Amino acid sequence: MITIEKLIKKKQKNKKFSKKEIYFFVNGYISGNITDEKMTELLKEICKSGMVEKETINLTDAMLNSGDKIDLSQFGCCLDKHSSGGVSDSTTLIIAPIVASLNAKMVKMSGGSLGFTGGTKDKFQCFGACLELPFDKITDIVNKVGAVIVCQTDNLVPADKKIYALRDKTDTVASIPLIASSIVSKKLASGAKIIVLDVKYGKGAFMQDLVEAKKLASLMVKILKKHKVLACAVVSDMNQPLGNNIGSYMEAKEVVEILKSNKDCRLLSLSKTISSILISKKENISLDLAYRKVEEVLFNGKALEKLKEMVLAQGGNLKLFTDEKLNYLSVNSDEGGYVDEIDTQKLGELTHSLCLNVGCKGISVLCKVGDKLSLGDEMVRIYAPKKYSIEYADKILKCFKFSKSKTNPLPLIYDIID
Ligand code: URA
Repeated sequence: MITIEKLIKKKQKNKKFSKKEIYFFVNGYISGNITDEKMTELLKEICKSGMVEKETINLTDAMLNSGDKIDLSQFGCCLDKHSSGGVSDSTTLIIAPIVASLNAKMVKMSGGSLGFTGGTKDKFQCFGACLELPFDKITDIVNKVGAVIVCQTDNLVPADKKIYALRDKTDTVASIPLIASSIVSKKLASGAKIIVLDVKYGKGAFMQDLVEAKKLASLMVKILKKHKVLACAVVSDMNQPLGNNIGSYMEAKEVVEILKSNKDCRLLSLSKTISSILISKKENISLDLAYRKVEEVLFNGKALEKLKEMVLAQGGNLKLFTDEKLNYLSVNSDEGGYVDEIDTQKLGELTHSLCLNVGCKGISVLCKVGDKLSLGDEMVRIYAPKKYSIEYADKILKCFKFSKSKTNPLPLIYDIID
């Protein structure tokens, strides 16, 4: 007879689980037959000893089969993208309108923020958009507008909801098989047939080792392809915030500014790359041609118009952001030199805590790694009531390390796994 105690011992000895054993602990935990304590012990052993590919495939299946699978076939081949979680990553709010302007369909299911990383749901809500929509309304919007951003339904991979919540509390997130099965099961259940995964690597990501990040990316692509999904993964940098703003409100504001100005920046550049891969797969055209199409809808304003349409269809309004003057406190450099390192996770955590507790709208980070600054140069703007901004300014400044010798800007994309 399989028991959770036997499974814990088995992983301690670095042995492989059978499909039956994996279904046993996934279903046992959802039904409440396995306690949080025992499941935590098992997760810790999995984090230590790992799982081979076959076990990860079975774990993904067990999670996928724990709940609803959404059928999007009525829309043809739907597109989707997923980020493994980063700071100032609002790519979804740029990619969805781009691909929808190019006649693709995207039903983006979004969870809330995870730890120090922001969630698309929270950012889209800043436009006043409603994300809790019944399926007939979703269908209506996809048919009219092309893209919709909604909350994950309660019964979408319930096993992941329960296991992830436990992993988050018990420091058992950073494990390749656990992350791969968590992300891929949700993507498969969400029904898209063309998916680009954005695997973040660096100080503001779960994957802090590049080799491991590439392994995670390859494994996820492989499992998705096994399920007949056209999949690709981009391994991108998270050693500094992707955009210039952190915090849902300021990130939503930045998205509008980027779509209006088309000003070159890392956030736009990564969004263009991911959109181009999606479009090239959907239309079966070269990446170069897809890239030109993406640039066209950015330059002719169609992508911005599409974001307006999406927000309006979900009951919100982009006007919320026009001409708004926000008060801020400037944080200035207390030394001169090159920006050498940014503790991105800490910066994300500090902003998260400011936004959660004291009505802060977010922060703007005005420098990137490799920039040369002089003593007194403005580095960060904090959009919060003054007394809190002052309290946080010093902690924020400590997230930046300087070097007297020249440091190079960071790459944006380390690998594309197709
Ligand atoms: N994002 C997820 O959805 N799951 C993980 O395990 C990690 C990041």
